[in-house]
Amino acid sequence: MFASRVIVRIREFTRSHQPRHARVDLAELLRASASLLDWDLRRTGASLSLDLPEGGAFVRGDEVMLQQVIVNLMRNALDAMRTDPPEEPRLSLRLVLRTGEVELQVCDNGCGLGDDVAAKLFVPFASSKPNGMGIGLSICRSFVELHQGRLWFSRNAERGATFHLGLPRLAAEAEATNIRTTS
Ligand SMILES: Nc1ncnc2c1ncn2[C@@H]1O[C@H](COP(=O)(O)OP(=O)(O)OP(=O)(O)O)[C@@H](O)[C@H]1O
Ligand SMILES: [Mg+2]
Repeated sequence: MFASRVIVRIREFTRSHQPRHARVDLAELLRASASLLDWDLRRTGASLSLDLPEGGAFVRGDEVMLQQVIVNLMRNALDAMRTDPPEEPRLSLRLVLRTGEVELQVCDNGCGLGDDVAAKLFVPFASSKPNGMGIGLSICRSFVELHQGRLWFSRNAERGATFHLGLPRLAAEAEATNIRTTS
């Protein structure tokens, strides 16, 4: 069902050339994405930690595209933990609220990124994996740019990598739209 929604959305998108601009709670989307990857987490033997703001984290955008980005980043993190398994594989998803921006951090303690891989990160069809297509991050970057966001990575002090996604944050007034209309 998820795959067919993505395909339908990509078709719609190529017709209209515009992503949807709906109010999206990234915290909710992260929870949904984590349960979507439940089986993948279990087969990697990875524990999941979620650090999400209680009141949600609102952005404007296309839920299906944003979920595709989140799922791709999570899949890469899990792949990295299977490539070079740490003693305790751990995937951490964190949302940080800043003035004007929401930052998602997808942190793993997997194989990490060498300079060669890092140089080709966003090059389509460049993959270090035997069955990798090498298009996940290219798609992520296109979708993120359509949302006026940014995507970058950092190397963890201990082990593994963190991918960061920054998206423009909805103004407080817009965040409260639901509260106003339902009260
Ligand atoms: N969290 C990570 N840790 C280590 N390496 C990573 C991580 N995320 C991405 N990479 C590296 O970046 C490369 C490109 O990632 P990308 O998602 O574009 O393609 P892929 O995962 O190889 O294939 P797919 O098209 O199935 O996603 C990967 O092959 C891997 O070498
Ligand atoms: Mg990938």
